Amino acid sequence: MAEIRNIVVLTGAGISAESGIDTFRSEGGLWEQHKVEDVATPEGFARDPDLVLRFYDMRREAIQTKQPNPAHEALARLDQQWDGDLLIVTQNVDDLHERAGARRVLHMHGTHLNAWCTACDGKTPWTGTLADRPPCPGCGTRALRPDVVWFGEMPYEMERIYAAIRRAHLFVSIGTSGAVYPAAGFVRDARSLGIDTLELNLERSQGSGWFRESRQGKASALVPEWVEEFLSRR
Ligand code: OAD
Repeated sequence: MAEIRNIVVLTGAGISAESGIDTFRSEGGLWEQHKVEDVATPEGFARDPDLVLRFYDMRREAIQTKQPNPAHEALARLDQQWDGDLLIVTQNVDDLHERAGARRVLHMHGTHLNAWCTACDGKTPWTGTLADRPPCPGCGTRALRPDVVWFGEMPYEMERIYAAIRRAHLFVSIGTSGAVYPAAGFVRDARSLGIDTLELNLERSQGSGWFRESRQGKASALVPEWVEEFLSRR
C-alpha cells in the first residue's frame, strides 16, 4: 500500500441502487422493463424519438428526486482527502457523486442532466423535459437529445481514462456487472500494467476473476469501510 499515489475508481449502477435508482441487469431492472434496442440505440431514436425522449424525461425527473447514499459520500471523502491523483470514472448518468461532493468525476456514458443539440453540437445543463422539443438555447433548432451514450456510440473521454489507468497504482471497481465494454475491460488493462485491483460489488461480477481481491456486499457498507481503511493506512 505504501507506494499507492494514483487511483482510478470505476462505478456503475450498483453504487446508486440504494439511492433508489434501478440497475440495468438485476431482476426487474431497467433492461427487463425496456428493450435496449428501443431506448438506448441511435436506431431506436431514429425509429421512435417520442418514446426515447419520454423514457429519458422520466429518468431525468426521477433522478432529481434521489439522494446520494453513504457509498457516494465515502468516495467524496476520498476525493477531498486524497492528495494523490484520483479519477472517479462513472458509467452512471446520475449526478449523485457530484451531489455528495466529489469533484474528480468523469461521466463516460454521459449525463441525464445535459441536453445535446444534434444541429450545433452544443451541450446545455438540462433539468426539464425534451419530449416537447424545446429549442436549443444556443442555435434555436429543435434538435435536442439526452447527452447519454447509447449502444453503438463511443463512450466519452477514453484517452483521458486510459491515461489515468496507465498512471494508476490502484484500480477499484464498484457496483458494476462487467457486462459492458470498454469499461468491463479496464480491470484487464490494469492487470496487464501490474496495477493493484479491487472489486466491491453485491455479487461477483462477470470480470471478477481478474481482480486481485473481490469483496461482496452492499456498496453503502463496503465503500465507506474500504475508504476508511485506505485513508487510515496512509
Ligand atoms: P448493471 O445493472 O449491469 O450491474 C449493476 C451491478 O451492481 C450488478 O453486478 C449488481 O450485482 C451490483 N449491485 C446491485 N446493487 C448493489 C448494491 N447495493 N451495492 C453494490 N453492488 C450492487 O449496471 P452497470 O454495470 O452499471 O450503459 O451497467 C453498465 C452499463 O450498461 C450502463 O452504464 C448502461 C447499461 O446498459 C449504457 O446505457 C450505455
